[in-house]
Amino acid sequence: MADPFRERTRRLQQRLLGVGASGAVFFPSPNCYYLSGFREEPMERHLLVFVPADGDPAIVAPDLYADQLADETWIDQIETYPDGGDPVALVREIGAELGISEGRLLLDPTMWARFTLDLRTAFPAATFELVEDVLAELRMSKDEAELASMETASEAADEVMERVRRLGPDAVGMTEADLAGWIRDELLERGQEVSFEVVVGSGPNGAKPHHRHGDRHIESGDPVVLDFGVRVDGYPSDMTRTVVFDGEPPGEFETAHDVVALAQDAAVNAVEPGVPAERIDELARERIEEAGFGDAFVHRTGHGIGLEVHEPPYIVSGNDMELEPGMVFSVEPGIYLTDAFGVRIEDLVVVTEDGGRRLNHVSRDWRV
Ligand code: CO
Repeated sequence: MADPFRERTRRLQQRLLGVGASGAVFFPSPNCYYLSGFREEPMERHLLVFVPADGDPAIVAPDLYADQLADETWIDQIETYPDGGDPVALVREIGAELGISEGRLLLDPTMWARFTLDLRTAFPAATFELVEDVLAELRMSKDEAELASMETASEAADEVMERVRRLGPDAVGMTEADLAGWIRDELLERGQEVSFEVVVGSGPNGAKPHHRHGDRHIESGDPVVLDFGVRVDGYPSDMTRTVVFDGEPPGEFETAHDVVALAQDAAVNAVEPGVPAERIDELARERIEEAGFGDAFVHRTGHGIGLEVHEPPYIVSGNDMELEPGMVFSVEPGIYLTDAFGVRIEDLVVVTEDGGRRLNHVSRDWRV
């Protein structure tokens, strides 16, 4: 396979030409990694990636990054400056060389204002817009390398969920935080970092969709919402199951769980190219409304996932974007009954040429 980073940059350049932009500028961010292969946190020093619509990209960076960049990115032209040097002068020079100091320049949307202002100073004849839509379209359609990472990350999450299920009655008496820590350790044996803080919402805590974990002890009969994932090669998994480790759940629970499972199936089964994203949301919502739980499904049905855990396409009412092969998103309907319990079932789904395929395969049954 050709270097995926180089290939993505080439595709971005085609789009830049298509929209009549002279180039795009990135700073340390998921977009920067997506194109260059270089991963770093934002910082106060100027580290900027310049992608002209036509020609080879270049990077302006502090001296101390020279070796790291040479190792991690396919981009050959790396121009460095010493601490105490004048990065803006260097930026002006490189911009002129690449032919991007005039015309429309598209910026990384999360770029810090200080760097944006310096670009304005360096290129007074340019106009500035965000690269967002141009790049979001590219990032939505995952390439082979990305799909492979997300499959591995999802297999890892499945394995951990299987191990959690096997705890059975042993989970009763553990605090949510204890169980979350246990899950975290299992995830980190299989990947580099957790996708987000592990969610263990027991009993009434499960009714708060954004509850992470607390000191509550898991009791017999508690429905427990478990939502977690792990990153492999930078790509996260994200899955949810609601289980009862031991004992009899509250009266309405079994019905609610059946309804969520039905809604999730209906939504997943409808995934195919050409279907508007909002239709997937509608199908899940209809099932839950028909069962009389409409008011208890308080969030959108899903979110795209890639380098960022939440990214387009959003599976939400009002988004008429048509699904395309290579898109990956969550399908995660839920029912939240305040002061009682919550139910959520979440799988990642990839859009294939003729349908959709789940990336998670572990049992969705609430009985462990
Ligand atoms: Co999710």
